[in-house]
Amino acid sequence: MSATETSISLPAGLLPKDGRFGSGPSKVRQDAISALFELAPNYLGTSHRQKTVRDHVSRLRNGLSSLFQLPADWEIILGNGGTTLFWDAASFGLIESVSQHLAFGEFSSKFATVVQKAPHLGDPEIISSEPGTCPSAVSSNVDTYALTHNETSTGVMAPLARPSNDGLVLVDATSAAGAISWDPNEVDCYYFAPQKALASDGGLWLAACSPSALERIERLSSADRWSPAGLDLGIALANSRQQQTYNTPSLATIFLAAETVDWINNSGGLLWAEQRCLQSSGIIYRWATDRSFAQPFVLDADQRSPVVCTVDFEGVDADTVSAVLRANGIIDTESYRKLGRNQLRLATFPSVDPEDVEALCACIDYIVDALN
Ligand SMILES: Cc1ncc(COP(=O)(O)O)c(C=O)c1O
Repeated sequence: MSATETSISLPAGLLPKDGRFGSGPSKVRQDAISALFELAPNYLGTSHRQKTVRDHVSRLRNGLSSLFQLPADWEIILGNGGTTLFWDAASFGLIESVSQHLAFGEFSSKFATVVQKAPHLGDPEIISSEPGTCPSAVSSNVDTYALTHNETSTGVMAPLARPSNDGLVLVDATSAAGAISWDPNEVDCYYFAPQKALASDGGLWLAACSPSALERIERLSSADRWSPAGLDLGIALANSRQQQTYNTPSLATIFLAAETVDWINNSGGLLWAEQRCLQSSGIIYRWATDRSFAQPFVLDADQRSPVVCTVDFEGVDADTVSAVLRANGIIDTESYRKLGRNQLRLATFPSVDPEDVEALCACIDYIVDALN
């Protein structure tokens, strides 16, 4: 950045109250941090095998079942390592032999690659589309269908619908869970990490599992297929039922996720959170559409994410805008690094205040004016 650019100082009255617009880790609410601080002496530094921590695991699991309005025979399971580890675990414990993957960005492609490289699985069917779009699944002779609810790298939201009556549907909901509604009839395993819409920290995976997914997990776990214990979903399931993880978790992550889930449930549930995200993302998409230098990257309005808004720039350098924002305390607005576009990526998860989103747009306008 040139000296003029670095010296652009946003007027205090224009700034959002909170400058965190990252797509994950994302803004953590101060109320949740304060609650953790209050509880800390009796919680942090205590055994995850004892009641105090188990009660919070139970609070999180029950809270998620209410949030998603899961049928009574579904279960929430959890383990360490975030979504990336869950992909490895799913390659051992959920995919029987052949899977189909929708690949339309960095994260959906990564799971497909895990499966392609797994020596115990057959070659997966991979259906790809250009970044900024979403392909459709096709009914096929596979035992598992895999897709991503919200492709965080591009800001595309995929519809969730069972492609066939046979085969499990596994949905990576890492940036969608807690912000976008979904129908358990269309899914068997809805898995995610809590550092995005659930406004917690990373390092944990959670999965809402249907009876069919639970049956598959228990069957593969007790079959001849070898699985490392840390990736064995049967072991994770047995531990989850005891309100614990197989190995030591981050207690702060569990607590903050439970706080967000309770906050959403007490505010009106998943539909409330979804409306709030639609309000915030609507502000950004309307603003981008109205500006000559910007436009939403995702052209199909139905596929535009309500939580990760990608905005292409023309005639203005988006990296410079992000850098000026960052210098003024508004952070993590940069485009996904590997996408390589002249773009901003702005998160509008439930914890982000729609008024702050208005302020963010005003700040970008101010910067673009100052640069011209
Ligand atoms: C859609 C999606 N899947 C998977 C991941 C990886 O999650 P983790 O870092 O918890 O492994 C991310 C992280 O950004 C994501 O957005």
